[in-house]
Amino acid sequence: MAWVEWSESFRVGNTLLDSDHRIIFDLLDQLHDAMETGQSRDVIGSVVSVLAEYVQHHFRREEAIMRASGFPELDRHREEHLDLERRVIELRNRYQAGERGVLGEDVVDLLKKWLTGHILVSDNSYRPWVERVNSGE
Ligand SMILES: [Fe+2]
Repeated sequence: MAWVEWSESFRVGNTLLDSDHRIIFDLLDQLHDAMETGQSRDVIGSVVSVLAEYVQHHFRREEAIMRASGFPELDRHREEHLDLERRVIELRNRYQAGERGVLGEDVVDLLKKWLTGHILVSDNSYRPWVERVNSGE
């Protein structure tokens, strides 16, 4: 069984965003797996790097969809995105600069908590707006 896996409880009312979230969970799972199986610094570094890139790409897409749906708390939500991506980027930069100790089991656990928590609480709050757009109302 995967260490972290997307499930129905993470649905946010938009297929594209749900599939982004699946990809992010897959990358997190790959990262956890690479660390657990003792992969090289290059391998772990590239997974962290792809994760950081994808998280940023996804956040911009999600913000565009929230804006189009008229979601009123866009600014607050965007702050949360910036905070999360800053942490992931810092992790990638420090790891790539040779600070191997920056990525441990506890840090990957934290990443999982931040991202799943964000989806379940903050992303879930734009669901009614985004769903209204989907249904063409
Ligand atoms: Fe979000």
